Amino acid sequence: MVLQEKTNQLSEKNSCLGKVLIPEEKIRAEVKKAAAQLDKLYDGRPLLLVGILKGSFIFMADLCRELSVPCEIGFITAKSYYSGTESSGKVTVSGELSQDLSKYHLVLVEDIIDTGRTLKEVVRIMKERSPVSVTVVTLLDKPERRLVEFEPDVSLFTVPDKFVVGYGLDCAEQFRYLPCIAEYIPEK
Ligand code: IMP
Ligand code: MG
Repeated sequence: MVLQEKTNQLSEKNSCLGKVLIPEEKIRAEVKKAAAQLDKLYDGRPLLLVGILKGSFIFMADLCRELSVPCEIGFITAKSYYSGTESSGKVTVSGELSQDLSKYHLVLVEDIIDTGRTLKEVVRIMKERSPVSVTVVTLLDKPERRLVEFEPDVSLFTVPDKFVVGYGLDCAEQFRYLPCIAEYIPEK
């Protein structure tokens, strides 16, 4: 709650921080529901949650702690935004997953799906390693912005075509620490 107040204070001081679109209580409730959906995947073979850095780090931390079944955690890095709010269109994926994926249900954990390019590429690369199953969980989805066809299996919130920050999401590395999702208003 202290951080929620901090967000409000920051909005007053920063002309680039707009309205809080999703408060932390709502995020918490939806994370619990998403974890309950993932619990059902477990059939004795372990779950491997793979977060896409950096944006998914807070979502991942909360999601794995709401699961009732065991899981392992991994991270990969996917880059499609190089500065500010503009996408370059090119996706680069890096990072090692040491597990033999053919033994795991793979759960890809993403902060937001925008054009769809990042996840399409990550799913393609991961499927080459023959996991038992692939499930894509995204905190946020901006379907209006899609440039390639891509549907997540679990999406906690649909957001309008606005740039958003907080709960792991940044703009030029700022505001990841906010407890809620807020609108970002680019300076003119
Ligand atoms: P996509 O490849 O266009 O779907 O882009 C997905 C990536 O772009 C996400 O993982 C985010 O890192 C970034 N991104 C897209 N929209 C936003 C936003 O509104 N705020 C912060 N990051 C965003
Ligand atoms: Mg991201």
